Amino acid sequence: MKVIIAKDYDDMSEKAFGIMLETVKSNPNAVLGLATGSTPIGLYRNMVRDHRENGTSYKNIRTVNLDEYAGLEGTHPQSYACFMRKNLFDQLDIQEKNTNIENGAAKDADAECARYNALLEEMPRDIQILGIGSNGHIAFNEPGTPFGSTTHTVRLAESTIKDNSRLFDSIDEVPRAAFTMGLKNIMQSKKIVILANGANKANAVYGLVKGEVTERVPASVLQLHPDCVLICDEAAASRL
Ligand code: GLP
Repeated sequence: MKVIIAKDYDDMSEKAFGIMLETVKSNPNAVLGLATGSTPIGLYRNMVRDHRENGTSYKNIRTVNLDEYAGLEGTHPQSYACFMRKNLFDQLDIQEKNTNIENGAAKDADAECARYNALLEEMPRDIQILGIGSNGHIAFNEPGTPFGSTTHTVRLAESTIKDNSRLFDSIDEVPRAAFTMGLKNIMQSKKIVILANGANKANAVYGLVKGEVTERVPASVLQLHPDCVLICDEAAASRL
């Protein structure tokens, strides 16, 4: 794994944007695997600014998102579908029909996972953006998830519910379950860029880069990927 230590959050976001721009410019039909959370917001801001200032087009770009809360409609303000529209899609010229995310409101969870897995087979990712949870999760693959997993539903770890509660009015409102791409789906991307900032990610980043490759730390599977780049700030890199 290549490790790039950025000065701060803005520097991390700019470096990630450089790789994203290269992907979009070299292939206007690229498939982007996208992530939610606070970490990639700076990357998305750079994409929006560049689209406005330089006219980089996303007209034929297709996207697949990692995960979605179970039980939330895509119109719910805390849904990841809503997050993506607000932070990225609504500000680019991307076509809505080319953006994909699990349907959190699906009544038949197994059918929804099967639909998403079939879609992922048809849309090999050119690049996958990832954040990392403080317990080493990627997407919503919590510790103990098999490396061979594909899209599935998951009960969220208490630490994840607590970490994500800052975005809800109260911890009781955080959904307890989610749909997530599996680790096998994530590993199929041609290139992976994982971002981390802040001291609360330092242990997870250590496990990602230097720890044992183990299902107890889902992100450690990325050590086995042939083209994975970690871009993190100094605080997140403090244990490396
Ligand atoms: C959530 C998401 C992950 C994300 C993680 C870290 O659990 N499912 O995809 O990487 O949170 O979020 P943040 O970037 O806000 O720290």
